[in-house]
Amino acid sequence: MSVAKKQYKRITVKSLGEMKANNEKISMLTSYDFTMAQIVDQAGIDVILVGDSASNVMAGHETTLPITLDQMIYHASGVIRGVKRALVVVDLPFGSYQSDPKEALRSSIRIMKESGAHAVKMEGGREIKDSIKRILKAGIPVMGHLGLTPQSIYKFGTYTVRAKEEYEAEKLKEDALMLERIGCFAIVLEKVPAKLAAEVAQSVQVPVIGIGAGNGVDGQVLVVHDMLGMNKEFSPRFLRRYTDLNSIMTEAFQKYNDDVKSKAFPSDQEQY
Ligand code: KIV
Repeated sequence: MSVAKKQYKRITVKSLGEMKANNEKISMLTSYDFTMAQIVDQAGIDVILVGDSASNVMAGHETTLPITLDQMIYHASGVIRGVKRALVVVDLPFGSYQSDPKEALRSSIRIMKESGAHAVKMEGGREIKDSIKRILKAGIPVMGHLGLTPQSIYKFGTYTVRAKEEYEAEKLKEDALMLERIGCFAIVLEKVPAKLAAEVAQSVQVPVIGIGAGNGVDGQVLVVHDMLGMNKEFSPRFLRRYTDLNSIMTEAFQKYNDDVKSKAFPSDQEQY
């Protein structure tokens, strides 16, 4: 049974603000291709993130750093073709916005023009303020991303919980207020203490969407391959696996292999 309060034919950045105001939680999942995005969209998920986690789950890289702008546009284009209702947000990949606001704007324009996406997401606070402002000035909606920012993994060295120290928590709170003030339509908070995340969500009017940030925020996001249980090795505390697709797929592949080897496939009915 659906628990949505208002039926949205199409989710926009404005709808997300309304959802927060109406105390309706926002659902967000990643997708990187047409078929997955179509299923996610048809299931009624509000926001689809074409995350740079594609670098990990689609390409097998250890970090999100190697994925390129061209590759993100390729993934996003497929996703857009599969989506009728959800808002599609695309990560600006590492190296496509950090050097200066002009480069950030150029990269965002390419994403919007070449993929048809609805918004971009960027990791960081005050360090990238001018770039965010430049993109917003061009009419492109921006989702912020604070807390654990995987594009800076080599600066921190680990993927552990962020902002546990008072000074980090203060910076995060200030950055969230700044992102709201300059015009970001939403903020992702990754892997921070639940109490801090709830405080941030209460301090801003824009939706705060958490991953490993507890239940006091305005919505949740997970990487689709993780919540489907496709990867057995990745098991952070925040991850809930909604199925065990790894076992289901392995069983199907083994059955197919057996059928091919034993000549049970194709049957008489499966040929012309
Ligand atoms: O790239 C990604 O999938 C993300 C989510 C984890 C928020 O940024």
